[in-house]
Amino acid sequence: MQEVLSMLYLWLKAGHVIFVIFWMAGLFMLPRYFVYHQESEAGSAEELRWIDREAKLRKIILTPALIITWVLGIATATAMGAWGEGWLHAKLLFVLGLSGYHGWLVGYGKKLARGERPLTGKKLRLLNEVPGLAAAVIVILVVVKPF
Ligand code: HEM
Repeated sequence: MQEVLSMLYLWLKAGHVIFVIFWMAGLFMLPRYFVYHQESEAGSAEELRWIDREAKLRKIILTPALIITWVLGIATATAMGAWGEGWLHAKLLFVLGLSGYHGWLVGYGKKLARGERPLTGKKLRLLNEVPGLAAAVIVILVVVKPF
């Protein structure tokens, strides 16, 4: 198993980075949708269109990209025998945080669909900085490998 994964290492890593891009794109888009969604009137035809767009973004991009990024990331780490390395542990911490943020977004979307508007548009725009900052730290950890 380890031998097969090692032979495929570069392909696994290429696939991993491709799905990281899809995942990040979805994480940037969904809170943007929420900003427009919550400006629409609860129960209006416009709101229904936003609920539909959010569901499609989740089903077609976000959920598959999250799963495939994790699977290929774990396969790449196994292929290169990196499980004991400090940079990977630190990276996993941030990736877990990003996965938690993903879960929170899904929950927020459900609240919006119920007619609740818990956060202001300004706060949502600020929250949109979270995946960008996390991605910067993650990329530095995996490329520079400071420890
Ligand atoms: C989901 C759990 C994840 C695991 C287990 C994981 C693990 C890995 C491993 C082992 C590598 C190979 C490093 C090397 O060849 O030196 C890698 C590469 C990479 N990962 Fe992840 N990763 C995950 C998520 C992410 C996320 C969320 C991002 C960005 C936001 C990311 C960005 C990258 C990049 C840019 C590379 C290429 C680095 C290079 O070739 O120098 N990864 N990842």
